[in-house]
Amino acid sequence: MTSLVSIIGAGKVGSTLAQRIAEKNLADVVLLDVVNGLPQGIALDLAEARGIESHNCQIVGSNDYADTAGSDIVVITAGKARKPGMSRDELIQTNAKIVVEAAKQAVAHAPNAILIIVTNPLDVMTYLAWRATNLPIQRVMGMAGVLDSVRLQAFIAMELGVATAEVSTMVLGSHGDLMVPLPGYCTVSGVPITELMEGTTIERLVQRTRQGGAEIVNLLQTGGAYFAPASSACLMVETILQNRVRLLPAAAYLQGEYGLQDIFLGVPCWLGGQGVEGVLELHISEAESAALRTSAESVRHNLEEVISNLSGD
Ligand code: 2OP
Repeated sequence: MTSLVSIIGAGKVGSTLAQRIAEKNLADVVLLDVVNGLPQGIALDLAEARGIESHNCQIVGSNDYADTAGSDIVVITAGKARKPGMSRDELIQTNAKIVVEAAKQAVAHAPNAILIIVTNPLDVMTYLAWRATNLPIQRVMGMAGVLDSVRLQAFIAMELGVATAEVSTMVLGSHGDLMVPLPGYCTVSGVPITELMEGTTIERLVQRTRQGGAEIVNLLQTGGAYFAPASSACLMVETILQNRVRLLPAAAYLQGEYGLQDIFLGVPCWLGGQGVEGVLELHISEAESAALRTSAESVRHNLEEVISNLSGD
């Protein structure tokens, strides 16, 4: 039985993700958007490449949530992207309404689906999607830590001139300026980067990772990154569909881990066929723990503000 992944939002992230999933032969894809013709055109264009890209995945473009029925995974990418100079948090009011509606509609048609949220500000949007659907916490997660970690991996590999696959990284916390990269858990061929680079170099790469999204927004001027976000979401989809059980950083619901409660935040997750099958509490420094708390406080502040605005509507 072929898996089905529905992607809500046929923007650049959603359409690139549809391409990645289909061309890796992972699942049939429904690409849904509110704009008439947009998902249909992208889906047909992708389907027309099947002969060369050697897959048989069905790719359907739709404006009707009924077509998402039976989805194993629903990825929500819908929402406004940043413009130069904007923070992800400035998207919160607009995107909150979009994500809540998308999550409700998706679960109404695919009640057994695992939800992966991509829309920013990620950590808040993931909480809102969970609250709107009341799904079990292991079936709701946000894609951000994989993206932040893969950026840091690329920057370390570029800096040292080593094979990217030899670099392993871990970034926790919110998907924003307050993210918490863990140099102690970043290695090259198993060797900690602290033995390979000066502290100032590590801090420069960490800072570039924090600004990774904004760097691309400023270069493109027309929106945000989409290739690396789509690859990151695709890795999570593959891990779940193939029950690979990988340790990946993702926004997960915390129930006391890292001293945090009732919040979605980027932490190391055991991801497998059931979704978030566990959260791993790493040994981190007091400074890293404090940074994680600061990150959580910022997310909680934004969450409380948007929930009160939503209830006021
Ligand atoms: C990024 O960091 C879009 O939030 C995403 O590029």
